[in-house]
Amino acid sequence: MVSGRERRLPPGTRPAVASLLLLLLLRRDAAAQKGDGCGYTVLGPESGTFTSINYPHAYPNSTVCEWEIRVKPEQRVQLKFGDFDIDDSDSCHFNYVRVYNGIGPTRTEIGKYCGLGLQVDKLNESKSNEITVQFMSDIHFYGHGFLASYSTTDKPDLITCLDTASHFSEPEFSKYCPAGCVLPFAEIYGTIPHGYRD
Ligand SMILES: *[C@@H]1O[C@H](CO)[C@@H](O)[C@H](O)[C@H]1NC(C)=O
Ligand SMILES: *[C@@H]1O[C@H](CO)[C@@H](O)[C@H](O)[C@H]1NC(C)=O
Repeated sequence: MVSGRERRLPPGTRPAVASLLLLLLLRRDAAAQKGDGCGYTVLGPESGTFTSINYPHAYPNSTVCEWEIRVKPEQRVQLKFGDFDIDDSDSCHFNYVRVYNGIGPTRTEIGKYCGLGLQVDKLNESKSNEITVQFMSDIHFYGHGFLASYSTTDKPDLITCLDTASHFSEPEFSKYCPAGCVLPFAEIYGTIPHGYRD
């Protein structure tokens, strides 16, 4: 189920050609992830889900991942963390999740985060239909990583794959389930045509 793969070019390929190819490949995708720290990733045009590598188990030392998320034009992105546990003994210097508005060289930082749990107050809306989420790890001794979901902001009832019915007090409710919750440790499922579809 892991959809993240590094694109490798044969040895000897000239770097200029390599980066041009990579650029073309990335431009064609609605969204992309790159690096060796990417875990389970499903990035759709309306919603998606992604985790740090090995989640729900500890992430390795010295990994990096960047998820470039692009939703439909004219929409904005809201991000929600279902679980967040990043070693903060270095005060977010070398182990962190960083969120940007936009993709590429013109992106601007929204914030850099580490520690346990993550309040989503400032992370809940992007300025445009694009955000970048970066995950960086260095030598660390605790932290099992994160699971995040996103959707367009016209879905105020977005949940993450880790929410279960016991989290809601109403006897009946309707929630927006993001793409990609078909995970062995997630409890969201449903029936077609009214229920959850990946
Ligand atoms: C990271 O490296 C340190 C020092 O080598 C080691 O003690 C620790 O177990 C490693 N952590 C992980 C998650 O591999
Ligand atoms: C985003 O957060 C602000 C306050 O921080 C809140 O007023 C707003 O409703 C939130 N938007 C969404 C889509 O959750």
